[in-house]
Amino acid sequence: MKTLEIKNLHVEVEGKEILKGVDLTVNENEVHALMGPNGNGKSTLLAAIMGNPKYIVTEGSITYDGKNILEMPVNERSVAGLFLAMQYPQEIPGVTNSDFLRAAMNVRREQPISLFKFIKEMESTIKDLEMKEDLAHRFLNEGFSGGEKKRNEIVQMEMLKPTLSMLDEIDSGLDVDALRIVADALNKMKNETNMSMIVVSHYERFYQLIKPQFTHVLVNGKIVVEGGEELAEKIDQEGYDWIYQEYNVQPASEAQNNVRTVSTGIGTCAVRTAAESAGKK
Ligand SMILES: Nc1ncnc2c1ncn2[C@@H]1O[C@H](COP(=O)(O)OP(=O)(O)OP(=O)(O)O)[C@@H](O)[C@H]1O
Ligand SMILES: [Mg+2]
Repeated sequence: MKTLEIKNLHVEVEGKEILKGVDLTVNENEVHALMGPNGNGKSTLLAAIMGNPKYIVTEGSITYDGKNILEMPVNERSVAGLFLAMQYPQEIPGVTNSDFLRAAMNVRREQPISLFKFIKEMESTIKDLEMKEDLAHRFLNEGFSGGEKKRNEIVQMEMLKPTLSMLDEIDSGLDVDALRIVADALNKMKNETNMSMIVVSHYERFYQLIKPQFTHVLVNGKIVVEGGEELAEKIDQEGYDWIYQEYNVQPASEAQNNVRTVSTGIGTCAVRTAAESAGKK
């Protein structure tokens, strides 16, 4: 069984600690919802798992299928079965969707896929996701609408057949029909291939379609509360305030506000950092 195991993960971005000790285990065929207020580390966690070199792991471990993936560059993690549908998919002018995908598929096969088989597979995937037929020949994400970019991430997922997919706000920007199309594609992959998923979304509506068995809430770089699907429902209805109170935590934005930069008014360069208590004087 392929399991993702994260222990005491600390991650720094641009010299600032964003993740402060995350533990998470995802077994085969499980669906995990990852929630939390804006700017509290959800995308950072997924980027660290996928191996974005900007996100520096300073402590802790990540293993997948028993292997230490922190030793692997991003391309090896992809071949090992990890996939990240990004919150903001990148445009890559000059590289067509089909060239990109065929190259990515070929590195995970002994023999290159035949052009005929590739075209058939790509056409059927594009049809599944109800995308425009010219998609294969267009440059990767260039000029795509917001929703098309998100759906194109799922085209990639279907073609590459990962064993663990991380979906970072894949629902944002999708119209109601596209939301259903994407959810159907995810559920189909999960059922047919045993794929597991970590799904980041702010909306219960998407979780209703994907049905996560587990929900984790990340606040200020730590998972502070975990539960089942009902936790996502409760957050949708009541927000995060009850979590801050019950678990005695502050979201990252407010924790930062407690150390504010305050002008003393005695000169343009005279700025001092003051604690919240001093700011109230
Ligand atoms: N590449 C980066 N460069 C600088 N700061 C970054 C970078 N990536 C993340 N951060 C910072 O790390 C913090 C956590 O960001 P992250 O994107 O993980 O939040 P998030 O929980 O995914 O939020 P959202 O719900 O808004 O997507 C933020 O303060 C963000 O500005
Ligand atoms: Mg994010």
